[in-house]
Amino acid sequence: MKVVAVLSEKGGAGKTTLTIHLATAAHLAGLRVMVLDLDPQGSAYQWASRRSDPPEAEAIAPVALTGWLERLESAGADLVILDTGRDSNNAGYTAAQAADLVLVPCRASGFDFLALARTLDLCRLAGRRPNVILNALRPGAMRAEADAREALAEQDCDIAPCVLHDRVDFRNASMAAQSAQELSPTSKAAEEVATLYKWTVEQLELSTTRKPEKSQT
Ligand SMILES: Nc1ncnc2c1ncn2[C@@H]1O[C@H](COP(=O)(O)OP(=O)(O)OP(=O)(O)O)[C@@H](O)[C@H]1O
Ligand SMILES: [Mg+2]
Repeated sequence: MKVVAVLSEKGGAGKTTLTIHLATAAHLAGLRVMVLDLDPQGSAYQWASRRSDPPEAEAIAPVALTGWLERLESAGADLVILDTGRDSNNAGYTAAQAADLVLVPCRASGFDFLALARTLDLCRLAGRRPNVILNALRPGAMRAEADAREALAEQDCDIAPCVLHDRVDFRNASMAAQSAQELSPTSKAAEEVATLYKWTVEQLELSTTRKPEKSQT
């Protein structure tokens, strides 16, 4: 079982958007995936509870994380994604410590870059080097992406090669309790999620799809 923590001390950076899209991509690929929502706001939990299909989500306190991960591992989960909030009972730190991969969504603006320092401190404390996912970039603004990469180059983090652009499908999906891949499978947003998912499972050295279980007979 692998654990991904999604964190950013900046509000609205895209943590929950990233969480629900990665989790749904994993489910669509056949993995047993669970979201643990450590944010008292409970957005990922509420999103999942409005659906009848997986991925499932539980809202938990950071102190309960270790127990939950042990139970999920015993139950045969392949992937657990931890959504976190800001300043919520050390949730970011606890999640980062438990994670095999730490993802930090970040919008491409000066304020977001300034706020990133606090998130990177937190990752350092937890002993994890995070991957920044540039989020909500203006479609077609190649220069903005290059500038963002340059601005972050000296920071204590890696920057994922894949990005998410500002797409209406991401907003609509959250409102419809779906993912962009479900709502609009041929959209650019769905394509970006597929690329991000592929990259994520490569980082985790996890198979992108679950092998069919052998029949008992
Ligand atoms: N790539 C994107 N394109 C369009 N809208 C986006 C994108 N990423 C996030 N959003 C929208 O921005 C808002 C904030 O995103 P989200 O809730 O994922 O951020 P967050 O980091 O989880 O926020 P919080 O700190 O409140 O938990 C949401 O309305 C979401 O739909
Ligand atoms: Mg959130």
